[in-house]
Amino acid sequence: MQISNEMRAMILRRRPGYSLEAPFYQSKEVFDLDMKAIFGRHWIYVGVEPDIPEPGDYFTVPMARASVVVVRDDDMSIRAFQNVCRHRGARLCDGHKGSVGNIVCPYHQWTYDLTGNLIHTEHMGESFDRSQFRLNMVHVGVVGGLIFICLADEPPTDFEDLRREMEPYIAPHCVADCKVAFEEDLIENGNWKLTMENNRECYHCKHNHPELTISLYEFGFGYQPSPENASEVQAFKDLTAQEHSRWESCGLPSVEREYLDTRITAYRTERLPLDKAGESQTMSSKVACQRLLGDLTQRNLGGLSFWTQPNSWHHFMSDHIVTFSVLPIDPEHTLLRTKWLVHKDAVEGRDYDPKELSAVWHATNKQDGGLVERTHLGAQCPGYKPGPYSPFTEELVEKFMSWYFQRLRAETGLSSATVTSLASG
Ligand code: FES
Ligand code: FE
Repeated sequence: MQISNEMRAMILRRRPGYSLEAPFYQSKEVFDLDMKAIFGRHWIYVGVEPDIPEPGDYFTVPMARASVVVVRDDDMSIRAFQNVCRHRGARLCDGHKGSVGNIVCPYHQWTYDLTGNLIHTEHMGESFDRSQFRLNMVHVGVVGGLIFICLADEPPTDFEDLRREMEPYIAPHCVADCKVAFEEDLIENGNWKLTMENNRECYHCKHNHPELTISLYEFGFGYQPSPENASEVQAFKDLTAQEHSRWESCGLPSVEREYLDTRITAYRTERLPLDKAGESQTMSSKVACQRLLGDLTQRNLGGLSFWTQPNSWHHFMSDHIVTFSVLPIDPEHTLLRTKWLVHKDAVEGRDYDPKELSAVWHATNKQDGGLVERTHLGAQCPGYKPGPYSPFTEELVEKFMSWYFQRLRAETGLSSATVTSLASG
């Protein structure tokens, strides 16, 4: 892809271990490159199977100027299409979610079945070949009930590794047997990379997240022993090792897997202990839903965390799941889409209260949105200069950036060798 000399120079002089130069958070050219090189090429997490339980159910995914519709077809397969009519390009499906028999364009009523075939048109003449105007397909990948899409013609094939490795971790929580009990779209006033940077560290948790830190130990999120807290971090590591053997003996895969900057379809997972009652990410640290997920019988199973590049994180507890999708709107606004899932047979009012279920992450998202906005404002200031990441708490932020720059270089043909030779020249 052609990029300006200025952009090329910025990519080449990126200093590892530091936040980015201001244009990476603001410029239209960088944003367009992000949409092409990152969101246009990789597997993007967009929703869960319980979003579309019945044939004809759909949800739409906004990504900058693009819109994708994800639909359940009559054979119960999940399909995704560009949300664009093949006649004169009208947007097909409106709103976040809905249900249709066929996909009918509101403009001139061209009609597509749920597999994307154009099945009805008026006034196009007898020789008109509808088979030439199927909806444009988008690749779909499902991992234990989590739905990913890929806009590239040829998606990264290492998605299969992620699927094979992650499904045993997620399976005990039975995502397909859940329902979406609550969901929330939050528009953050900041660049999507600031949303991701903020998610990849818990350096900020203690002083910003009073609700989240009731149950969450900050140490599971990229902490390394430092002179200030070596003994606390070691105690957490010991607790984690002990809980891992308890959970693994119950058939729950728990050990860390981390490929955040060593694969194209990059991820990290680990089942982590929770504090206090150790049951769930709630205000009491006890379960918020009395009907546990799948066939689980124990409540104190900690939280299985799963993070993917470039746009998601998820927490699976014994009673509920919280799942987050980051979708860029423009260089300075980002949609954070959060869903809370419980067992589909759980009854609202008897087994759970949506407000109680969502209290922690509703508050935490709002706080994080404020931090993202604050950083975005700061990065626009003429006085802003890239600052150093903590080697003890922000290692995963650097891994996100390391992955991001590898992917930009792959897209623009700036190999690491080029980087070295130009940097030293
Ligand atoms: Fe869709 Fe005309 S633009 S039917
Ligand atoms: Fe946070």
